[in-house]
Amino acid sequence: MKPKIAVIGSSNTDMICRVPNIPRPGETILGNEFSTVQGGKGANQAVAAARAGGDVTFIACVGNDTFGQQAIEAYQKDGINTSCIQKINGVSTGVALINVADSGENSIAVAPGANAHLLPEMIEKYKDVVLTSDIVLMQLEIPLETVYHVTRLAYSANIPVVLNPAPACEIDKDILKLFTLVTPNEHEASLLSGCWPEAKNEIESAMEIQKQGVKSVIVTTGSKGAYYLDGESSGVVKGVKVNALDTTAAGDTFNGFLVVELAKGKRLPGSIELANKAAALSVTKRGAQPSIPYINELNNI
Ligand code: RIB
Repeated sequence: MKPKIAVIGSSNTDMICRVPNIPRPGETILGNEFSTVQGGKGANQAVAAARAGGDVTFIACVGNDTFGQQAIEAYQKDGINTSCIQKINGVSTGVALINVADSGENSIAVAPGANAHLLPEMIEKYKDVVLTSDIVLMQLEIPLETVYHVTRLAYSANIPVVLNPAPACEIDKDILKLFTLVTPNEHEASLLSGCWPEAKNEIESAMEIQKQGVKSVIVTTGSKGAYYLDGESSGVVKGVKVNALDTTAAGDTFNGFLVVELAKGKRLPGSIELANKAAALSVTKRGAQPSIPYINELNNI
């Protein structure tokens, strides 16, 4: 039986320009190729969970436009249940403008479009999906009130909720303690720990976040790997060194693979090890969803 994963989040069309370096404010630079691919943190994580072997339902909003239709068809090809994706009239599908530098680093600006219409009322409509899943996975590219609503709903039914708090944003303390696991990067961890902008290392940040009531914390640290902390143990799971072409969606790949392993009943360190491998493979290819590996490709790393 495949684990049932409910992903609630954004769906974007990524418009990508390859550039020698990320332009500074006020600067215009000449780039290289332009491409358009499927993206959005929610969608990327849904795709990653499906390619990791999960039975995924994606709750999302797209515009009633060509981009939205293309996105739905792409998710279906990955075997994702798209019956809870609503097409919203009069707004565009979310768009992300992405610069990817030769170093593999990126900068991203998102126009939320239809993602802003994923409101608690829609969750009420698809409440059964949340309540019958093995694990719920969310990010922060949809209205915060919806993230809070889903969290309360899942928590009240003892369904584990994983939050990838990206892009960084402050979370209500009363809600934060309801998450089973949060998976920030270093910057997001520093903000969640309540000590931002004071620099903290990942261990201190994770401990501060756990003190606020979250059961488990994983702070991802790029190619270095991830630091984890749960009720029983803590430690670093080293990353896999690869030549990075494009880091877009590496975090999303990590989260999608991670939740499938956790839903299968695996412990944190083993789940992180597999998720690290998947994330490492993803940075060796360009684009968000085109770069997300399938579970059988992980034997090659
Ligand atoms: O995490 C990467 C994603 O962030 C991109 O696909 C883009 O759509 C933005 O949401």
